[in-house]
Amino acid sequence: MLDIKIIKTDAPKAKPAPGQKLGFGKIFTDHMFIMNYTEGQGWHDARIVPFQNISLSPAAMVYHYGQEMFEGLKAYKNPDGNVYLFRPDMNAKRTNNTNDRLVIPQIPVEDFVQAVSAVVDVDRDWIPTEPGTSLYIRPFIIATDEFLGVAPSKTYLFMVILSPSGAYYESGLAPVGIWIEDEFVRAVRGGIGFAKTGGNYAASLIAQKKAHDAGYSQVLWLDGVERKYIEEVGAMNIFFKIAGKVVTPSLNGSILPGITRDSTIQLCKDWGYEVQERKISAEELLEAQKNGTLEEVFGTGTAAVISPVGKLRYQDDVMTINGGQIGQLSQKLYDTITGIQTGLLPDEKGWRVKVGG
Ligand code: PLP
Ligand code: COI
Repeated sequence: MLDIKIIKTDAPKAKPAPGQKLGFGKIFTDHMFIMNYTEGQGWHDARIVPFQNISLSPAAMVYHYGQEMFEGLKAYKNPDGNVYLFRPDMNAKRTNNTNDRLVIPQIPVEDFVQAVSAVVDVDRDWIPTEPGTSLYIRPFIIATDEFLGVAPSKTYLFMVILSPSGAYYESGLAPVGIWIEDEFVRAVRGGIGFAKTGGNYAASLIAQKKAHDAGYSQVLWLDGVERKYIEEVGAMNIFFKIAGKVVTPSLNGSILPGITRDSTIQLCKDWGYEVQERKISAEELLEAQKNGTLEEVFGTGTAAVISPVGKLRYQDDVMTINGGQIGQLSQKLYDTITGIQTGLLPDEKGWRVKVGG
């Protein structure tokens, strides 16, 4: 249990006007959570302070060798007036899996959830309630030692910042076009692909630019060894509905174990679908498209929620999925997941976690 000191701002900012287009990750609330780690002392000085710049030495290790991690989750104001997080314990556990890989000290699951809840509680009036909006929460840790040697830092900062946000893609729920990348790779097994850390995203930018230049909104990565099997999209996991079955790449160590992926698998199983977590090649997709069994393609992620894919490009082939329209299963998953998150549907699985008393 953290002892969190709270210092509130005396200059609150103007909140977005009702109906204002929020975009994603552009607006920040009045406060942030911050806590230090010092070797020998552990995590200490948990506090909530006004949102502000931080000052670090130019030699701080995070700037040079990328020892850092981040998470993403959301808070929603429900019709009962209460604020809820969605499966925050999963983010806490994933944080520690990432931390282990990057030799960053662990944070107890309860402390992570307490820190997130506490800062969301302080800024609860910032949570937007229009359909498709929520408060995006970004916990992250950076290595702060002033040192240019390559080694794990002995000091860190853990912070949580909050951003009232709308849809991740400008197109909202309209199906997106995705580029299957067969030149650059994002991750290999044994590397850091399963960890939520900046390096994976830095490695992705060149292919994202290539896809954008060709008119596609995201990259779908292939495995880093054979460049044959589907992995995941830049900011989401990927699902296919093929001949009535739901197929998604297995967690092989090089893709992020998405929380929305896990929720999607549970819901599809509950609804009686056969769900296959397995290797799936780009060739198999082309084949399924040709014989008419590739029924739906959608991405899953906290920021992206359920994001239907209307077009997939692989080398010289462009596959149009479901006539470029959102499929029935994608729509049902979107409605169910956002319904549970926003309190319009009952929470039969205990996924909502209430913020504050
Ligand atoms: N894959 C990548 C690379 C991501 O950045 C994300 C986003 O967090 C996901 C998958 C989806 O994970 P989650 O559903 O936990 O948000
Ligand atoms: C999230 O969905 O929370 C993410 O972290 C995606 C992010 C890379 C925009």
